[in-house]
Amino acid sequence: MKKIVIAIDGFSSTGKSTVAKLLAKKLNYIYVDTGAMYRAVTYFALENEYIGEGFFKEEELVGRLKEITITFKLNEDLGFAEVYLNGKNIESDIRTLKVSKYVSPVATLSEVRRKLVEQQQLMGKDKGIVMDGRDIGTVVFPEAELKIFMTASAETRAKRRYKELLDRGHELSYDDVLENVTTRDHIDSTREDSPLIKADDAVEIDNSHLTIEEQLETIVDMAEELI
Ligand code: C5P
Repeated sequence: MKKIVIAIDGFSSTGKSTVAKLLAKKLNYIYVDTGAMYRAVTYFALENEYIGEGFFKEEELVGRLKEITITFKLNEDLGFAEVYLNGKNIESDIRTLKVSKYVSPVATLSEVRRKLVEQQQLMGKDKGIVMDGRDIGTVVFPEAELKIFMTASAETRAKRRYKELLDRGHELSYDDVLENVTTRDHIDSTREDSPLIKADDAVEIDNSHLTIEEQLETIVDMAEELI
């Protein structure tokens, strides 16, 4: 059976990763959450106080990028890979609203993008991969055989993210989550390097009113025509 690259891009909290994970499992493909990689760099920046309220020491962060090693390791119990920064499991540390608040400014840095894109291209060189992010179909794998662009209204996305964070025990308000989602979308779509845009050959799926099963079925059908 032919192996392909499946690129899933879209706005924040569209549920890309949920569908991408299930899709990878169904096809027996590798799943890579590239947002986790940008979050890992942001976590490093926060830990070292290179970014925070009202400051961003970009050059200092860039100067230490080579000390950052991001890896993924399968958690057998959870059934998906968790992200590690220099050997430390940071899977839950990167899912906070604090990391979400600073990740988009960090992701505007070309040096950060270059480093992560290179690693992503290596991970997908043998195909058989589902990768989700913002620039997968446009920059990381412009030749991907299947490209999906996920959308949903900002309110739908904020509601989903709010519920997800509450379920994980975070204390926060819906308004903060909505503000984070819309601010990130704005920064991600307007940055100079690799802005979030739909690739010309991507299939757009508005999942505001679709169940996860419906989304999965639609994408599996498209993939099966290509493999
Ligand atoms: O996918 P997730 O919401 O975890 O991504 C976090 C942030 O990482 C995005 O808002 C965006 O700023 C950045 N990102 C990116 N390019 C990617 C994946 C994520 O710029 N391929």
